[in-house]
Amino acid sequence: MRFIDLTRKKRDGGELSRDEIAWAIRQYTADAIPDYQMSAWLMAALLRGLTRAELAALTEAMLHSGRVLDLSSIPGVKIDKHSTGGVGDKTSLILAPVAAAAGVIVPMISGRGLGHTGGTLDKLESIPGFNVHLSLEQTMRQLAEIGVALIGQTEDIAPADKRLYALRDVTGTVESPNLICASIMSKKLAEGIDGLVLDVKTGSGAFMKSEEEARHLAELMVETGERMGVRTAALLTDMDQPLGYAVGNALEVKECIAVLSGSGPQDLTRLSSLLTAWMLLLGGKVATIEEGEQVFARLIADGSGLRKFHEIVRAQGGDLSGLPRAKNVMPLAAASGGYVEQIDCEKIGIASLVLGGGRERKEDAIDPAVGLILRKKVGDVVRASDTLCEIHYNSEARLAEAVALIESSYRVGSQMPIRRPLVSDVISAGHQFARSAKQES
Ligand code: URA
Repeated sequence: MRFIDLTRKKRDGGELSRDEIAWAIRQYTADAIPDYQMSAWLMAALLRGLTRAELAALTEAMLHSGRVLDLSSIPGVKIDKHSTGGVGDKTSLILAPVAAAAGVIVPMISGRGLGHTGGTLDKLESIPGFNVHLSLEQTMRQLAEIGVALIGQTEDIAPADKRLYALRDVTGTVESPNLICASIMSKKLAEGIDGLVLDVKTGSGAFMKSEEEARHLAELMVETGERMGVRTAALLTDMDQPLGYAVGNALEVKECIAVLSGSGPQDLTRLSSLLTAWMLLLGGKVATIEEGEQVFARLIADGSGLRKFHEIVRAQGGDLSGLPRAKNVMPLAAASGGYVEQIDCEKIGIASLVLGGGRERKEDAIDPAVGLILRKKVGDVVRASDTLCEIHYNSEARLAEAVALIESSYRVGSQMPIRRPLVSDVISAGHQFARSAKQES
């Protein structure tokens, strides 16, 4: 077989067989297909789409490119959550400790920032010393001891996704429902979990800009999860503006600690609560979403969620006292007054990236301290010269570019905008789940 023939076939709208896809993923993982060739195939797959059979074959090939965890020796139900990616999207750092404090085992394997979106691993690594590279044996031990581990993909787990993810990030091949589905589901199914809650983002800061595209992706992932025997539910959630106020790695960690301490932003707290409730529902710990949210509120109020977060940081070698701060903070003022009618969320994500908070090339290093704190969000009243946003930066090099992006992302006008619901729908195999969660949005 020659990979170029498979690329041509996909480019011309043909369907690849299960064997062809399995071969290509094996070869790529073994370094026998170079990145430039794979990039071309990814672009063909993005433009032409994949059939359901191709998607199933791709997901399974990526899943079996490494080890699949067997967590059967650890008592308890194993549930994870994964987001399709957003700006200021930091719920993992909140819900993983809270769900673990509620008695669910959370073996969370996360990714790095992708495109304009942030990644859980980059946020965790802003905590000095925090080790996301636990071996599978260390992960198992930590899960048995404290019920939760927050790790990156090892070479053992879905290594094909690890490499494809980094390649897609820099080749304009992220925004494909099929590629996103295969990427997320291959690494999540490798965790050996019983249930999975998916946070499918939609809006200007999401990869799926329209609700229709997001719903399609959610359906693909729920179908893939259920087919593989994992109870899966997907919430369609708003990413038309950043979640919470902080965008940037260490700034986001601080905001998560605020939520765990009971004093975080309302939207971030609410979404973390709902996603946790879904994890507890899929894990059989509660009978309704309402009950799950009550458990979340209790574990925040009595400090158990925050204690569990500190346990994770300690277990993985982190030191929160050394959380980095940027050298400079520049307030950005509104040019005119009115309502914040709109925030182009993708531009906010790119502004953080150009300050050094994300990567433009695979090998770029991240500056964990930089980012933005939004002072105004959609629907807020603004007076001329009010601060819209604080820019935390270390280098002047691309400050002007970041400022221009932020300025052009805010639209201030006379219209009070209609606020979008935080959760617009739930896709799951069980209709009763969809009904109860929709009422929550
Ligand atoms: N998150 C992932 O894990 N993979 C994608 O492709 C996009 C978001």
